[in-house]
Amino acid sequence: MDRRQFVLLTSTGAIGLLLNRSLSVASAATQTSSATRTPLTLFFGVDYYPDQTADALWEQDAVAMAEVGITNVRIAEFAWSLMEPREGTFDFQWLKRAVDVLHRHGIAVILGTPSAAPPPWLSAKYPEILLVNENGVTLSPGTRRFTCPTNPTYRRLANAVATEMAKAFSSVPGVVGWQIDNELTLGSASRCYCRSCREGFQQWLKAKYGSLEALNREWGTVFWSNVYTDFSQVPVPLPSGAPPNPGFALDYDRYQSAANVSFLQEQLQVLRRLCPSHFVTTNNVGGFIDTIDMRDLYRDLDFVASDNYPGIFEVFASGDPNFSITPEASAAMVSFAHDFMRSVKNGKPFLIMEEQSGKAGQPTFSAQPEPGQLRLWSYQAIAHGAMGINYFRWDSARSGAEEYWHGMLNHDRTKSPGFDEIQQTIRELKSLGEKALNASYTADVAVLYDYNSDWALAIQPGQPKLKYVSEIMTWYGCVAATHAGIDVVDGEQDLSAYKVVCAPLMYIVSQEQAKRIRAFVEGGGVFITGVRLGVKDEASRIVETALPGLLSQVMGVEVIDYQPMYSAKQGVQFAGLLTGPQAECRIWADILEPRQGTEVLATYTVDHAGKAAITSHSFGKGRAIYIGSHLEPSELGRVLFTLLAANGIRQSLGVPSGVEMTVRRDGSQRWTYLLNHTSKAVEVPLKDSYRDSLSGKSVSSSVSLEPYGVRVLAGS
Ligand code: GAL
Ligand code: ZN
Repeated sequence: MDRRQFVLLTSTGAIGLLLNRSLSVASAATQTSSATRTPLTLFFGVDYYPDQTADALWEQDAVAMAEVGITNVRIAEFAWSLMEPREGTFDFQWLKRAVDVLHRHGIAVILGTPSAAPPPWLSAKYPEILLVNENGVTLSPGTRRFTCPTNPTYRRLANAVATEMAKAFSSVPGVVGWQIDNELTLGSASRCYCRSCREGFQQWLKAKYGSLEALNREWGTVFWSNVYTDFSQVPVPLPSGAPPNPGFALDYDRYQSAANVSFLQEQLQVLRRLCPSHFVTTNNVGGFIDTIDMRDLYRDLDFVASDNYPGIFEVFASGDPNFSITPEASAAMVSFAHDFMRSVKNGKPFLIMEEQSGKAGQPTFSAQPEPGQLRLWSYQAIAHGAMGINYFRWDSARSGAEEYWHGMLNHDRTKSPGFDEIQQTIRELKSLGEKALNASYTADVAVLYDYNSDWALAIQPGQPKLKYVSEIMTWYGCVAATHAGIDVVDGEQDLSAYKVVCAPLMYIVSQEQAKRIRAFVEGGGVFITGVRLGVKDEASRIVETALPGLLSQVMGVEVIDYQPMYSAKQGVQFAGLLTGPQAECRIWADILEPRQGTEVLATYTVDHAGKAAITSHSFGKGRAIYIGSHLEPSELGRVLFTLLAANGIRQSLGVPSGVEMTVRRDGSQRWTYLLNHTSKAVEVPLKDSYRDSLSGKSVSSSVSLEPYGVRVLAGS
């Protein structure tokens, strides 16, 4: 998914918080803390690129980092050519010296296994390891992330270097944990279409379907004469004479996700065996790249780690007429990413492995963040459940592809414009204390984000403007404007902890999801959904029954027609609870026939005039609401805001627009984060009195926030 596809609502991302769910805090901070000054402050770090020749510089850097308050660095994630200069010849001495220098200055080390960037000798000798992209083009080496996740030679060599590294560092003082690879989710690099992947896909299909009969049936291969008589005939979805069979293409996306997970798992096994006292994680690019199932990726890792570059959205937007973004929408996208990262391991605090430290970019780069923004973005992550922040990066490279990615030091090693602000942020965050950084975050609302619907809709959007991730972001932005706490769920789990579940574009509904949603609504929950509900089953076949298929009974409606819209005009007239000015429907209309007892909250005004566009059905102790008309963000925002307010989700403070509020709790202790994403000073009214955790002063009735300012209010 291209980040530039998002055209977002100009609503503020905002989060408030709720229930008191106890949380199992990452054990890493207490597990291997001998090298850190205190276990509490393990996770304030920076990315560091030591090289072979710079012992004196490391010393100087380590002193400076310790002075800033940095407690750990991540190093070596791209250093394969230094570690294994020739096949089978390993040299970790330089890295051991670097670890030692850092350790002497009280700085712990997270080591990266280097498989994201194999050395030239490797790709020259084994060109079959190169990734083949979705257009059939074999990637050229000389950069990073150009390798196939299934190629056996690549796996053997990646595991060999990880094994030697693990042996070399398993008991080196100062090493506390590992990052496997680097950003497996970067760009389109997580899907490969090479021969090795094709063979792997055929094996995967054999295991999944058991027989060709089952595969042919589920995919419907009889159409276009695709009946397979041997697994070896099954291709991969490279460009062909026409669009691919949807079941086949969806299975390929699932297979590639699983292939990347299994690539990571092999290194994980090595590290678990050789370094049992170290934590292991991997970093990813946040909530917007959707090629690998995050829940699968992190299942056996100790905690989630993600990278966060809020300043980069503006760069994507400039010069691309299809991408527009406001600062508020950018803030909401970042909040979504954090909420997703926290939700991947069911609320466990996560680590920001790379946080923007200055101007950021490769050939082009972002503006210098405004004074206060680097601090604000760090607090935003903590406010949504992060337990620590590592900045990217310490110094700024004078050569190589990332010369323009500015670190805490300028190219001439003087302090960068953000240096003092980062130092201040680290001091402040440490002073909040361990409890605050590991406190729990619970949510009243869940947004349902499911890879099946995402991938299936990318294969067949129906109407070119229906984009799953963009729709999720828009709904998320609308809900976030209420300041409710939001989890991101896939609908395969018990949903009873939530008051409301929002599930836009739920194109595929699995049996399990249908069961969970039914139980949720029966038990008193409110389910709000949108167009294209339940069109397909998990095999990506259209359901046999009337739409919305498995959820017909719960929704209390039948979709009697569905209409992709291009030049046609359609209007929506609101009623009941939603009464207000008419809206236009521009992309898609599901025409709804309410069953007996189902309330109509909006009707169409042009085609199918008078037919239901939005319905509300009371089912069991709960309610199921179908927004059958695709609405523009501002109108959707009004509708969702009204529906949420009517169903128990209310804004607790008069928080001004552009200001975000979240709450983290530990027992009776509670930290309320107020984050001003605007360039103007604002005043936030308070109902209770609090202690300002950063100044120590008590505050009541209202509190001021400077431009890009932050407050952390403690109170029970
Ligand atoms: C991430 C990556 C880092 C570095 C950074 C800046 O995508 O993990 O290695 O490249 O962004 O580009
Ligand atoms: Zn491949």
